[in-house]
Amino acid sequence: HNHIDHATVQKVEAAIAAGDTHAHLPGYETHADYAAGGGYETLGKLRSGGDWEAVQQQVLESGLRGLGGAGFPSGKKWGFVRANPGPRYLAVNGDEGEPGTFKDRYCLERRPHLFLEGMLIAAWAVEAETCFIYMRDEYPAVLEILRREIAALETAGIVAPGYIDLRRGAGAYICGEESAMIESIEGKRGIPRHRPPYVAQVGIFDRPTLVHNVETLHWVARVCREGPQVLSATEKNGRKGLRSYSVSGRVAAPGVYLLPAGSTITDIIEAAGGMAVGHVFKAYQPGGPSSGLLPASIDDVPLDFDTLQPLGSFIGSAAVVVLSEQDSARDAALNMLRFFEDESCGQCTPCRVGCEKAVKLMQAERWDSDLLEDLCVAMTDASICGLGQAAPNPIKLVMEHFAQEVGTGGDVPDDAGYDSDQSLER
Ligand code: NAI
Ligand code: SF4
Repeated sequence: HNHIDHATVQKVEAAIAAGDTHAHLPGYETHADYAAGGGYETLGKLRSGGDWEAVQQQVLESGLRGLGGAGFPSGKKWGFVRANPGPRYLAVNGDEGEPGTFKDRYCLERRPHLFLEGMLIAAWAVEAETCFIYMRDEYPAVLEILRREIAALETAGIVAPGYIDLRRGAGAYICGEESAMIESIEGKRGIPRHRPPYVAQVGIFDRPTLVHNVETLHWVARVCREGPQVLSATEKNGRKGLRSYSVSGRVAAPGVYLLPAGSTITDIIEAAGGMAVGHVFKAYQPGGPSSGLLPASIDDVPLDFDTLQPLGSFIGSAAVVVLSEQDSARDAALNMLRFFEDESCGQCTPCRVGCEKAVKLMQAERWDSDLLEDLCVAMTDASICGLGQAAPNPIKLVMEHFAQEVGTGGDVPDDAGYDSDQSLER
């Protein structure tokens, strides 16, 4: 920042000097509140003679899938990690960097101990030697809550001092990719590793590592305490379970909404109070920029894992952003590619150069669809990690559904504003 607001700096310094580092902590459930309601009883019972495979079975029966976005069956992951000899680690991915996603923050700023108990149950199940929590540094209130509540767990004798190692991310989107996060935890530059081996085999310091998202662990605690039906009993449109949708954009009441996993965009907009006054529904990002944009006409598909694949999209972490007729699909896609260009770690050429070229091509008055399609294939097929592989989705979906905005479907005129012959050569 080149502009420093001295009055604010003085206010913050005075607050810190008075011992008040976080004047804006939200009201949340403390360890005392949680324990008074029976919290940590499940963990205590499991630690004194529980059968990890019985717990794994419960998690499998609940249908819980990884809520960071990939939807890998959580119970299955425990089996992969246990299959490798110890010492083993657990790492929590709290680097919620997906634009439009804020459900983990919501969960941590309200009920941090549901997450912490779920984490300790999963750590018990895989016999983890240490739990690393990799937390997004842009969530200062969450960091402060976790510092206080981890200290409370140590005081209560639930964990040994140091068993939970809280780490701060430094704002790189790519450090939310699990192997880049592990590199960062190890103290290195956060760049993704090649797979296989998966982190379940070779993770932190080359040890088998169980990686889970914050919300996934929150559900582990609920499933173990309330039974698998807490998730599996909800059914809608042929889909089972619940999803926390982070809803933003042109809706009347943006926020986190816990809805059946079979909800359509119509249900989600309705839950968020309908469209904002004066706005007509045009398009939506179903799950982060890598899921691209879908038109309002696709309004009857359940927004769950697997259901959007045939449309060339996916639900990911369920970051739903609603656009209206006042928004440009073309500008939204360009914005998404600019984000990927900024956040690409630069390790591999198809992504590093591909994102940059895509941004240039997308600035032309009419998009050169043939060239963009070639570029999309190269990026999807040859990038190392999900960032580069999925970055073309907004381009492909906007060409398919909003062709009139980008002028595709015919020959690109000479005055297209971009020299396509040169585009891939530099
Ligand atoms: P992935 O499907 O490759 O892997 C998912 C998980 O399953 C990983 O933990 C992986 O290690 C494990 N896994 C998969 N196959 C395995 C095997 N054969 N053996 C052992 N373990 C296996 O997906 P990835 O690349 O980890 O995540 C992509 C998702 O992340 C996207 O859907 C995107 O929505 C989401 N995302 C979420 C963000 C957020 O802020 N929540 C930010 C950016 C992306
Ligand atoms: Fe880095 Fe992009 Fe390659 Fe992923 S795809 S490793 S973010 S350059």
